[in-house]
Amino acid sequence: MNHNFKVNYERCVKCGLCIENCPTKALEYDDYKSSKMEKPKNCMLCQHCFAICPVGAISIMGKNPDESNEIKQINSDDLLNLIQSRRSVRKYKQENADKEIIQKLKNMLNYVPTGKNNHSLHFSFIEDIATMNDFRGKVNTTIVNFFNKKPIQFLSKQFSKFEKMKNAILNGNDVIFRGAPHLICASAPIDSSCPSQDGIIALSYFELYANSLGLGTCWCGYGQAVLKMFPEFIEYLQVPKGYIPIYVMLFGPKDIEYKRTTQPNPYTFTTIEKQDLEINIFNRIKRTFWNIIKR
Ligand SMILES: Cc1cc2nc3c(=O)[nH]c(=O)nc-3n(C[C@H](O)[C@H](O)[C@H](O)COP(=O)(O)O)c2cc1C
Repeated sequence: MNHNFKVNYERCVKCGLCIENCPTKALEYDDYKSSKMEKPKNCMLCQHCFAICPVGAISIMGKNPDESNEIKQINSDDLLNLIQSRRSVRKYKQENADKEIIQKLKNMLNYVPTGKNNHSLHFSFIEDIATMNDFRGKVNTTIVNFFNKKPIQFLSKQFSKFEKMKNAILNGNDVIFRGAPHLICASAPIDSSCPSQDGIIALSYFELYANSLGLGTCWCGYGQAVLKMFPEFIEYLQVPKGYIPIYVMLFGPKDIEYKRTTQPNPYTFTTIEKQDLEINIFNRIKRTFWNIIKR
């Protein structure tokens, strides 16, 4: 791990914030009350030292603090409105999104948080509608052929969901990809600490930012199921070796405009208060068992 931690001593005001704020206690005071990398193995390259320094005295991994963006106060009402007005879009213009907007989305993805800051996600993008149509066509043909095979045909009749999907595809209804011109698939190394969480967080950020840039998005559970059932499409999306696809999201210029936010029924919330801890071994086994099963 090359952290390349450097302090600009002409700038350093010896405030110690970088040392205090390091989540893994990798930094220590040096002999001049400035900071040094004491335990490089602890460093997870989160750049908190770099971000907190009031005078931009710290450089890590060769980054120049003067090239960072300033932190602006955002309008929380606007952010809430974005969250409230985001909708799953299932009607898209048959055109490519602006290349610059796609580039902005890619740049944003570099900032999403990952467990242990492993920062090892991979994103497959279908950026051209012609490629998307090729992918769509191949997936739909594979599904129809699969469910037309004799034993599967029997099963598919039993599972009316599959039968319905096959018939919809045959009727020219794009039930899987919703006519979207683009797709993003987040994948993560199988052995990373939280592959699913990392991928889903990244796509959640993607969804909101894409909406703020005027694009529509839709989580694509069916697309994810296709990748599970027909791994040749994992190859098509060039998911790197040792990586698993976490989820698929559709996106593109939308051909629909919503006029108001929805009014979802409120969730239940529990406010927890101080209490005595009761240790019930039966409950512990039951909870642990369910936690394992659910995984
Ligand atoms: C994990 C996940 C998977 C989804 N998969 C699909 C899908 O395959 N096809 C689809 O049309 N919508 C899919 N959706 C969208 C939901 O059906 C959608 O959230 C719901 O219709 C509510 O609409 P809204 O997102 O506009 O609030 C998915 C949503 C989530 C969160």
